[in-house]
Amino acid sequence: MKSHIKSKNMNNWKSLKISFILLLASVAAFAQNDAIQVGKDGKEWNILTPSSVYRINVSANGIVNAVCYGSRTMLENVITATAPEIPVRGGFVATLPLLEAVFPDGVRDIELAFKSYELITVDGRATLKIVQQDKFYPLEVSSFIRALPEYDLIEKWVEIRHTGKKGSIKIENLQSGSVFLPVDSYELTHYSGVWGHEFRPNKTKLTQGTKTIQVRDFKSYGSSSFMVRPEGETGGNSGKVWFGSLCYSGNWRVDFEKMFVRPSIPGRANLQITGGINFWDQELYLKPGQSSVTPRMVFGYTEEGTDGVTLRLTSYTREQLLPGSRRDKIRPVLYNSWYTTFYAVNEQQQLALAKIAKEIGVEMFVIDDGWFKGRINHLTGLGDWTVDKNKFPNGLKPLVDSINALGMDFGIWVEPEMVTTNSDIYKLHPDWIFRYPNRQQYEGRNQLNLAREDVFQYIYQSLYKLISENNIKFIKWDHNRPLVNPGYMSASSDEQRAVRIRYMENLYRLVNTLRADFPDVWFENCSSGGGRIDLGMARSFDFNWVSDNSDPTERIFLHDSYLTLFPANTMISWVTKEDWHQQDPSLAYKFDVSMAGVLGVGNDLIKWTDEDRKLAKDKIALYKEIRETTQKGDVFRIISPFEANRSIIQYVSKNKKKSVVFNYRLAEYPENSIPENQQSPLVKLRGLEPETKYKFDKINGAYSGKYLMEVGIRFPLKGAFKSDIYKIESTD
Ligand code: DGJ
Repeated sequence: MKSHIKSKNMNNWKSLKISFILLLASVAAFAQNDAIQVGKDGKEWNILTPSSVYRINVSANGIVNAVCYGSRTMLENVITATAPEIPVRGGFVATLPLLEAVFPDGVRDIELAFKSYELITVDGRATLKIVQQDKFYPLEVSSFIRALPEYDLIEKWVEIRHTGKKGSIKIENLQSGSVFLPVDSYELTHYSGVWGHEFRPNKTKLTQGTKTIQVRDFKSYGSSSFMVRPEGETGGNSGKVWFGSLCYSGNWRVDFEKMFVRPSIPGRANLQITGGINFWDQELYLKPGQSSVTPRMVFGYTEEGTDGVTLRLTSYTREQLLPGSRRDKIRPVLYNSWYTTFYAVNEQQQLALAKIAKEIGVEMFVIDDGWFKGRINHLTGLGDWTVDKNKFPNGLKPLVDSINALGMDFGIWVEPEMVTTNSDIYKLHPDWIFRYPNRQQYEGRNQLNLAREDVFQYIYQSLYKLISENNIKFIKWDHNRPLVNPGYMSASSDEQRAVRIRYMENLYRLVNTLRADFPDVWFENCSSGGGRIDLGMARSFDFNWVSDNSDPTERIFLHDSYLTLFPANTMISWVTKEDWHQQDPSLAYKFDVSMAGVLGVGNDLIKWTDEDRKLAKDKIALYKEIRETTQKGDVFRIISPFEANRSIIQYVSKNKKKSVVFNYRLAEYPENSIPENQQSPLVKLRGLEPETKYKFDKINGAYSGKYLMEVGIRFPLKGAFKSDIYKIESTD
């Protein structure tokens, strides 16, 4: 297993870099142990990917140090310690601590020293485990670090353990991992938002001090994903980018701390990036023998610009994180009745919609909110999950049977984490709800305390019954309230502030248990639109409802951001009547926008004309032709709507034989060009095979990939809010 850092290995790595493209296709070709090199006396490690190196060493006094993370050229430097691999509260606190604890006697400082290391296998992948131990107190800290070379990523996480026999250790902060970037001036791009305006990109210069992105109420609307670039590096498909994301969905934080560095010390880091659970109003107690493991933090480095980030992060999510049982399956075309019927649902009306849905090519019919007992408006009915007999006198089964007989699967909306005051469960178990005595209770929706096992069992059994009795094949799992008053007064005092962490552990366990029971059911993640989208949810849910804003032009912006970070097969996008800017967008434009992700329809189909139905049928037929490429291929944002009055998104199949170009025009005069300039600009495509010839469905001739990528081709389109889709195929 162990190998020394020798030139022989370095040669191997050179050849690895050249064959990186092949590696993307064949992970098996890569000997995973080569990704972790063990050096002198088992006290130096290089974690390698084709573009990056992460270096760790142990100094003479037993401190485990991290060296700068970044380009493999750093392998040529003399190894210089940058900062502790696990910065702690204790001693000289020059860096952001990953770990802050209070020992039973009140001592609040930690002093770690190297104990051992091991190369282990976790989920079939070589992983470096470095164990440190407090010099006096019974606290053991294990860092887990590994490379995912095919994505230029490293994953980091930490486990802490109380190794003593008495007393509890209070943990006030435990982050998943940090990296240190070489001295430079950096700019951060991160994504934040509010309801209806999710994932807005923000760019900011990182100046001395700390920039924090975080969630405190379980609602994100943005992302823990980030990109950090040296100032001036703006290339879409070239230039250095450090990036990362946390695999966690509750309260999280990522800190970017620009440190003061004396110019007389060259080559050291001046930016620390740290991510993990947000310990704001949280603490854990470790009793003797107990341990705690953090979620995984993913860090990446590429020299291929933002395209490079997208390729790596989206492939990683699609191939490694998404639930294995349905990961490779093509996502169905959906119909969802929310925008048409809201809470006023009934069997006859849903069936009438379903018949037309089938006619136009829909494969999954989903009934949204409103179907359950006592659901009149958003303030009622949540919690019992039994059917409303006024709306469905014979239960859901006859509707489901009819939909199945039409040849479609059936899906349903639930909001399992919430209850309203008129539900039986609210009255029966007031203690299951988060609340504080003497504090205002916000009753609109009450949140169940999923940290409790009885709550877990109740939700699990309710959903098990619902799914199994109604042949349900799709669950839209909603979550519509930010967390307030997270009181858990019946818990012991040392468990009370761990409640959010326990809640999230149980949420993942709940969905994963249901998935294991019903492996052929799709799960959609929704939280008032895109309020809880992250790499934590990606491990349990197949796709996301990205926003309640389904205005097509707004969506073009949203898709641009979302597709930078997440794979297209997780992005559900419906055609609806929404028109937030009174632009009266055409049905064709709406379809072309929604076809960039997982296509859904939400219109009142009964009101559609014959022409509307014909158009929808043709668009859905086209979608079924291209979705293998769009759902499983690589995405390239050729022109971003944030930079021009148009948007071009290109998908390329993994074997590079097929490509699809979505061309949207947002204004009459793109790029503010003068009207007499009728010539549409040449657009350089990406991701094609240079030597392969490609033909288009709507452009004459055949062009080499090299020509299309270096010279470009025109996608003429006239008029505001117009769109077009081009299919491209290799001629062989
Ligand atoms: C919020 C979701 O974002 C919507 O799509 C819809 O499901 C409603 N909840 C239903 O109450």
